[in-house]
Amino acid sequence: MSRSPYLQGATINPAEDFRRMRRIVAEDLDWTLVIVPCLSKLCLQSFIRNFEEKPIFEELSPTQRDFVQEGLSTSLPLNLTANLISDGVFWKRCCEERWDLCDVSHYGHSWKRMFFERHMENIIELFIPYSTEEKTVLEMVPLCKNYVKRLNISQLLPPIREPEGEEEDELGLDSPYQNENEGQSMDHFNFKILLSKLTNLEELHLVYKVNQCGMNFEWQMFEMTDKDCKSLASALKSCKTLKILRLHESHIEDKKCLLLVKHLLDHPSLRELDFSHNLIGDKGARAVAKLLNKSQLETLNLYDNDIRDHGAKALAHALAKNPTLQSLNLRLNRVGDEGGQAIANALLNNKTLSHLHLGANKVTEPTVITLAKVIAQNNTLKSINISCNCLGEDGGKALEEAMSYNTSITECDVCLTGMGEQSVSFINQAVWTNKKNAI
Ligand SMILES: *[C@@H]1O[C@H](CO)[C@@H](O)[C@H](O)[C@H]1NC(C)=O
Ligand SMILES: *[C@@H]1O[C@H](CO)[C@@H](O)[C@H](O)[C@H]1NC(C)=O
Ligand SMILES: *[C@@H]1O[C@H](CO)[C@@H](O)[C@H](O)[C@H]1NC(C)=O
Ligand SMILES: *[C@@H]1O[C@H](CO)[C@@H](O)[C@H](O)[C@H]1NC(C)=O
Ligand SMILES: *[C@@H]1O[C@H](CO)[C@@H](O)[C@H](O)[C@H]1NC(C)=O
Ligand SMILES: *[C@@H]1O[C@H](CO)[C@@H](O)[C@H](O)[C@H]1NC(C)=O
Ligand SMILES: *[C@@H]1O[C@H](CO)[C@@H](O)[C@H](O)[C@H]1NC(C)=O
Repeated sequence: MSRSPYLQGATINPAEDFRRMRRIVAEDLDWTLVIVPCLSKLCLQSFIRNFEEKPIFEELSPTQRDFVQEGLSTSLPLNLTANLISDGVFWKRCCEERWDLCDVSHYGHSWKRMFFERHMENIIELFIPYSTEEKTVLEMVPLCKNYVKRLNISQLLPPIREPEGEEEDELGLDSPYQNENEGQSMDHFNFKILLSKLTNLEELHLVYKVNQCGMNFEWQMFEMTDKDCKSLASALKSCKTLKILRLHESHIEDKKCLLLVKHLLDHPSLRELDFSHNLIGDKGARAVAKLLNKSQLETLNLYDNDIRDHGAKALAHALAKNPTLQSLNLRLNRVGDEGGQAIANALLNNKTLSHLHLGANKVTEPTVITLAKVIAQNNTLKSINISCNCLGEDGGKALEEAMSYNTSITECDVCLTGMGEQSVSFINQAVWTNKKNAI
């Protein structure tokens, strides 16, 4: 006969008092020692039930805390739990209850960070200027500021239109002036009230657009207004911990770019700037070039803007003297050979850039011949993308020759450049060999 089921979990030494235990079991066949919870567990369960009135957490041992984390209700008010319950199962339960997809590896393996970042993102994404009270955001700040490192805001709502405005439109009182006034009232959430208070924020991704606007579509929903730009610029300046700024698809033209850049000069921690899918032209690029000289940027992404030769030359000028930039992306702009050659010449003189993207511009043979010199020099350049430019057969030959000096290039995209097939296959072969040697 096996005695072990009764003995599991029981603290009584079997040799000591086996008889008494047998007797108890004999009196009640359903009753075993295993299912009697320990007093300590009963206490913990009582703590859990009364947590809202009498929160006890910090005083507990690690195993007791784990037990409480498993049992607490996820609907407890955040002002109670935020700064009391440490990262763990409780926050995992909160996240999984609220969102279908929860990949904690995107949040530095912290469930608490995930919860508060996404919670704050939701509040901002649903914030309606003049309707939502600023209090809803500000109340959260003391609760979440220790855990929020990144905010990825995928929409910003404009204010709700005054109904009178629409009536007037119908009456035909519409005038260009009125439209301008309406434009001014399209300002979005004011980041000035928030960013300086988030003392651990390192990454900010913003888009000034509205998701799923359906039949309410208006062009104005998809741009940052002048006032938005002003308030964001000074908010960014006050956010001293920011390392990465991404501002996409927000209709940023030269004027707004200038203003943003002006406030980012000498920023103490900014390392990555991404203004892709905007309307930045040469003037904006000149401002960014100045920023290159007055910052420690390592990554600059100006993908899909309106930068031409003058802008590219300004960037090249800054690049030649810059000791920090490692990656420059000018994909899908309108840079011609004047700009392209300037950039390549800058690289002849400097040895920090490792990634260059000039794909889908207007550069041709002269640029690629200068680039070939850079490559043959065997410096830090590791990856180039010059696809979708008209480089021609001779451009291909120049690049082919450069690649024959075993160089540091481990990625080189030359698709759709009009090069001879032989050049392309030689270049690919050389890249492959370099990659193999690099490992
Ligand atoms: C949490 O907020 C509620 C009101 O929203 C308030 O009644 C309560 O006292 C607050 N609790 C703490 C611990 O601040
Ligand atoms: C930011 O959010 C958008 C949409 O929600 C997503 O596509 C993108 O990958 C996110 N970016 C980061 C860095 O998490
Ligand atoms: C900025 O420019 C000056 C002079 O042109 C140069 O000495 C300095 O190294 C540059 N700084 C950076 C960070 O590029
Ligand atoms: C590249 O720029 C840095 C910073 O201005 C400078 O120290 C370095 O000498 C430059 N490289 C060359 C090869 O001139
Ligand atoms: C190079 O740029 C083109 C577009 O210009 C893009 O489609 C392609 O994926 C890029 N290649 C690499 C290796 O990233
Ligand atoms: C490149 O390396 C290969 C062997 O890996 C060698 O045969 C060839 O001579 C080298 N070429 C140059 C230009 O150094
Ligand atoms: C280029 O650099 C690689 C790696 O540092 C080295 O193995 C190779 O010999 C160099 N080639 C030339 C031509 O200097």
